[in-house]
Amino acid sequence: MTIRRATSQDRSQIQDLHRAAFDASENETVARLALELLDDDGSPPTLSLVAERDGAVVGHVAFSPVGLTGDPRFSAFLLGPLGVLPAFQGKGIGSQLVREGMRLVGTGDVDVLFVYGDPAYYGRFGFSAEAAEGFAPPYPLQFDFGWQALQLKPRNSGVAGGRITCVDPLNDPALW
Ligand SMILES: CC(C)(COP(=O)(O)OP(=O)(O)OC[C@H]1O[C@@H](n2cnc3c(N)ncnc32)[C@H](O)[C@@H]1OP(=O)(O)O)[C@@H](O)C(=O)NCCC(=O)NCCS
Repeated sequence: MTIRRATSQDRSQIQDLHRAAFDASENETVARLALELLDDDGSPPTLSLVAERDGAVVGHVAFSPVGLTGDPRFSAFLLGPLGVLPAFQGKGIGSQLVREGMRLVGTGDVDVLFVYGDPAYYGRFGFSAEAAEGFAPPYPLQFDFGWQALQLKPRNSGVAGGRITCVDPLNDPALW
């Protein structure tokens, strides 16, 4: 199994895997988001990784940059979406994608990672709701308990918190 940066050649496989991994109520939205984030070439750029097995893409994760209103020095990334083909779930692939993404984005001068997802899954990587306290998500959440953070640098006493801003593909209240 290889974890590598996604390329435009992976588009259809990334789309297919999210369509298969997520529930029918959200899979098209998630697949579209994954492709839009793949195209994001902002600064810093979104990191998109795929897990490849025998030449086929079986997992994908994106880490997109987020900002903090009123603090141009704040540097953070948002993890998501994350998906693994159903037949390959439970084999550690999701964890490898998350850990490799955390390693790659964490080598920069990054303060915090955020995620909006199941705490029962993301807690194992060190994400917690407590660490996200004071950082308001870009839109009202459907599931408040899913908003979590992982502090990579000691929380700067100057960072009181504030509202998180995100890249264009995530600027859709329906995603939150
Ligand atoms: C969530 C997902 C990415 C995990 O990928 P994976 O490769 O199966 O995960 P891993 O093999 O690294 O870890 C498996 C563990 O995560 C647990 N797990 C999987 N999905 C979970 C969830 N939604 N909530 C809590 N735990 C979950 C499994 O029970 C297993 O637990 P164990 O280690 O105690 O046995 C994958 O199951 C998936 O694509 N699910 C559908 C899409 C989705 O819900 N994505 C967002 C997650 S919030």
